[in-house]
Amino acid sequence: MKETDCRAVIAPTPLRLSWRINRQFVSFEWAMVVDKREDRVRRMFGEIAGRYDFLNHLLSLGSDVYWRWRTVRKVPPAGEGPILDVCTGTGDLALAYARAARGRAAVVGADFCRPMLAIGREKARAAGTGSLAFVEADAQCLPFADHSFQLVSVAFGLRNVTDTDRGLREMLRVCRPGGRVAVLEFSMPRWQPFRGLYGWYFRHVLPRIGQAVARNGQGAYNYLPESVGEFPAGEALAERMRAAGASDVRYYPLTLGVATLYVGTK
Ligand SMILES: C[S@@+](CC[C@H](N)C(=O)[O-])C[C@H]1O[C@@H](n2cnc3c(N)ncnc32)[C@H](O)[C@@H]1O
Repeated sequence: MKETDCRAVIAPTPLRLSWRINRQFVSFEWAMVVDKREDRVRRMFGEIAGRYDFLNHLLSLGSDVYWRWRTVRKVPPAGEGPILDVCTGTGDLALAYARAARGRAAVVGADFCRPMLAIGREKARAAGTGSLAFVEADAQCLPFADHSFQLVSVAFGLRNVTDTDRGLREMLRVCRPGGRVAVLEFSMPRWQPFRGLYGWYFRHVLPRIGQAVARNGQGAYNYLPESVGEFPAGEALAERMRAAGASDVRYYPLTLGVATLYVGTK
């Protein structure tokens, strides 16, 4: 098994220095980037864990259930090899995989936020899914051997991982050769006028409802549109998956592009 050096995860600051060449001049500028340091992300999800599922279903008008269902349909379990869902949160995608596998394959849900995992464990117990286990782990240094899983998935989680490329490389490292990697993530619709209408809802309505219901000190529902706006989508994310070692990467916009499912093979 390859050694994974977890100490090498260095949290970037929310300020980024960039430089630009304007004809004769080189100018430097500081730009604010979304603060995705591990401590902040963990604290933020810890604060909203109790309201997370309710708000997910409310703010997406139930579409999140359909998006995870489509993910399992498009990238179904094949055989008995174990399945890993990273950034599993309260475990909805892991639960969907455990149901689809019908006890033939073990499913592991991994996340670094204990309050989210505690809810996932409770849901799995209530659903009687014995083949599903939860593990506390950082997606940037997974505690699993190389080539362990037939399928590695992540839903609405990769965007929150401090170092996206490191998270992708870890997903591919623990995936078996020939296995599949599925990334479900928010995106912005491209078709106008829906894009304009959805953009207004996503930037102005959703954060207000989210913050009012899940009162938290981290502005979790302001962070949501900010982090989606900054995150690569479409070909840009597909390219990052290829750079991390995935081949035959394809992507499928869902619900007019509000979410996108990316699928690659190791
Ligand atoms: C928006 S929630 C998504 C939860 C779930 N996958 C779903 O579909 O609802 C994002 C989750 O990613 C987790 N997360 C973010 N960064 C992480 C990291 N570096 N390692 C492990 N989990 C992480 C958070 O703790 C949170 O539970």
